[in-house]
Amino acid sequence: MDHSRAQAVPVVETRDLEKVYRMGDVEVRAVGGVSISIYAGEFLAVMGASGSGKSTFMNLIGCLDRPTRGTYLLNGRDVGKLSSVWEIASITLPHSSPVASSSGWRSPARW
Ligand SMILES: Nc1ncnc2c1ncn2[C@@H]1O[C@H](COP(=O)(O)OP(=O)(O)OP(=O)(O)O)[C@@H](O)[C@H]1O
Ligand SMILES: [Mg+2]
Repeated sequence: MDHSRAQAVPVVETRDLEKVYRMGDVEVRAVGGVSISIYAGEFLAVMGASGSGKSTFMNLIGCLDRPTRGTYLLNGRDVGKLSSVWEIASITLPHSSPVASSSGWRSPARW
C-alpha cells in the first residue's frame, strides 16, 4: 500500500456520485456514478472529451454544486448531511489537500 494511503481517511471520497441536469423534459446525466478516493499529497487528473462532465465533477467536489445522487465525503465528513456553508467551511483540510490546492477553496455558491 502507498504510504499516504496508509492514512485512514481520504481527503476526497466520492461514492456513486451522480449529477443530472433537468431542463424541462430533457435530462442530462453529466456525472454518472463516480467513485474515487484521493488522499493527502496525491494528485488526480480529470480527463475526458468536451461535455463528459469534468467541470460538473469539479464543481461537486469543490462544494459549488450538490449531487443528484451519491455521497461525497470531504475529509471524512458527509457533505450532503451539512446544512450550511459555515458547516462546510469549518471542515479542516490537511495542508496538502487536493481540494484546498486545486480549487482555491472558494465559497460554495449555492448551499
Ligand atoms: N448548468 C447546466 N445545465 C444543463 N446542462 C449542463 C449544465 N452544465 C453542464 N451541462 C451539461 O452536462 C454535460 C457535462 O458538461 P461539463 O461542462 O461538465 O463537461 P466538461 O467535461 O467540463 O466539458 P468541457 O471540456 O467542454 O469543459 C454536458 O452535456 C453539458 O451540456
Ligand atoms: Mg469544462
